[in-house]
Amino acid sequence: MLHWGPGLGDELPTEDVFVPAVPPSSIDVPLRLSLLPSLAEGWTGRPSLSAGEVRLIGAHSPDDNTVLVRHASADATQEVTTELELSPEGVLRVRHRVTNRGAGELPLPGLDILLPIPDEASELLDFTGLWSHERRPQRAPLRHGVWSRESRHGRPGHDDAFLMAAGEPGFGFRDGRVWAVHLAWSGDKRIWAERSALGYGVLGAGELLSPGEIRLAPGESYETPWLVAVFSDAGLDGLSDRLHPWIRAHSPARLPRPVVLNTWEAVYFDHDLGVLSDLADAAASVGVERFVLDDGWFAGRRDDRRALGDWYVDSSVWPEGLHPLIARVEKAGMDFGLWVEPEMISPDSELAAAHPDWILDGGAGPTWRRQRVLDLTKAHDHLLDRLSALLTEYPIAYLKWDHNRDLLTPHSGRQTRALYRLLTALRARFPHVEIESCASGGARVDLGILELVDRFWTSDTNDPLDRQSIQRWTGVLIPPEYLGGHLGAATAHVTGRTSALGLRLATALFGSAGIEWDLTAAGASEREQIAAWIAEHKRLRPLLHSGRVVRADSPDPAHLLHGVVAQDRGHAVFALVTLGTPRAALPPPIRLPGLDPDRRYRIRPIGVPPRTLQDAPPRWLAAGSATLTGRVLAEVGLPAPLLTPEQALLLEVSRH
Ligand code: DGJ
Repeated sequence: MLHWGPGLGDELPTEDVFVPAVPPSSIDVPLRLSLLPSLAEGWTGRPSLSAGEVRLIGAHSPDDNTVLVRHASADATQEVTTELELSPEGVLRVRHRVTNRGAGELPLPGLDILLPIPDEASELLDFTGLWSHERRPQRAPLRHGVWSRESRHGRPGHDDAFLMAAGEPGFGFRDGRVWAVHLAWSGDKRIWAERSALGYGVLGAGELLSPGEIRLAPGESYETPWLVAVFSDAGLDGLSDRLHPWIRAHSPARLPRPVVLNTWEAVYFDHDLGVLSDLADAAASVGVERFVLDDGWFAGRRDDRRALGDWYVDSSVWPEGLHPLIARVEKAGMDFGLWVEPEMISPDSELAAAHPDWILDGGAGPTWRRQRVLDLTKAHDHLLDRLSALLTEYPIAYLKWDHNRDLLTPHSGRQTRALYRLLTALRARFPHVEIESCASGGARVDLGILELVDRFWTSDTNDPLDRQSIQRWTGVLIPPEYLGGHLGAATAHVTGRTSALGLRLATALFGSAGIEWDLTAAGASEREQIAAWIAEHKRLRPLLHSGRVVRADSPDPAHLLHGVVAQDRGHAVFALVTLGTPRAALPPPIRLPGLDPDRRYRIRPIGVPPRTLQDAPPRWLAAGSATLTGRVLAEVGLPAPLLTPEQALLLEVSRH
């Protein structure tokens, strides 16, 4: 592998030009980085194929964008095909498939995908996090050695490395050359960067296999998940500029994204037809389009300690089933969504009593939220039937598919593949039903599952300050229309922090928007503002859910600026958010990235006016708008109003 990065034009010099020198005290032939680097070829970095040696035997291109490279072991018992696919958007996907062509069993301890990075890529960015604080960025220099992030959660986890990016020192949202990889996989995995004393740098990733997990019988194959790789010469926004259009083309979201009301923080387990009917009416009155009944509707589920697996409507709470509620929801003009957590089982459930052998690993180890994992390789048919029965009896448009514990098993790959099979089968039966991937918030946000779902529940926190950061960083990979973001109560349930309505609304505006709040308790003026916000969201969502996401780099961590610019750069929406107290009395001007430098734009504030502390506002805001070229807006910017902490100013920018 010679190069992965900026385009090189059509003509490539002959290969011999690239043969490197042979250093002293090394193998006697020039060391070249192959697609499957291993000890056998002198590679002493982390290998790709952990067992055996294979040699290149041929390559061909089935189409303009794909190359298949074939390798085999000397005795021809092991065959590995590497598939490389470069999309028109500039997203590179790579995976290996190994096949056992021998007569005996072939154990496979590991098979990873590696890509080279140049020496200038010496600063790393990846992610960590906690429940309700997903995708916290962390940076470090890449020195000699391996920086490896491993997930053993059986799901990516709240601390998922998510995206591993290596770039030139100081790369930001708008500047710098960056190489980044993501593994499209929802189970255990590792993703790493290595700079070796050999002189090579690589980014690598693969499924984390436990000893003995994969043993291929004669004729059997194992295929790695896709490694998704992108290069940008314009910082992290440049990565999104390739990834977002590719994801939109590859796993298209159903647009327009309906505005949701989810019942969780409004009623928790306290289900009551009267209360929920009033909530449905309140939701419809402000313009909500989808009403989602969260946890608590099924047999015996009065709290989070029991009943997972018993996917029958609780007749003591819902004597006529969900029909009266759904009728009310539909009468009010909304469609209906339902929460499920099919991969789990409560020890205290009818299902566990009937099928104790379906509990993964026999129920060894600690419970988690008092629940255990259902072995999907055993319960697949049962779940498919039960979910199908619900989707047939009720007009359900949407499933919120939750997953609230780590698997804590050494064999997460089987379970992950079984999940993919189940989702595939369900979608084939009910192609109109949308599915949201939720895992205690955003513990399963990856491009493997995105092929089978329509939306992610980004985080369990509806606190807008936390959400600003979680959405900003999750959005580097995932376009906003796939990311659920809800308006919560004034005092956030998770953090106990109280936030202004304007900040909460501005934060939930950009993604797949919704509400998670007991609207019946909201005041008349709040409801009016929410209705206006929903109307504004509906007006703007064609732009928000198709445009280019842009984020400014700010030296002051108290200030965030992000926005979405239409593909033709004729229309944009930006948010300036103050997370805390700015460093200077006069904050830096609002510089708007991503516009056409040669066009003139009119900029005007929209949404709930933020709280300010100033003797006079900037003159353009007092006048109501300004008209400037994209160049001036990007280079000079507009004077910022003096927002107090935890406020948001929304700006709509239209071609003049
Ligand atoms: C965790 C989810 O992330 C929440 O939104 C909610 O659905 C609860 N589970 C329900 O148990």
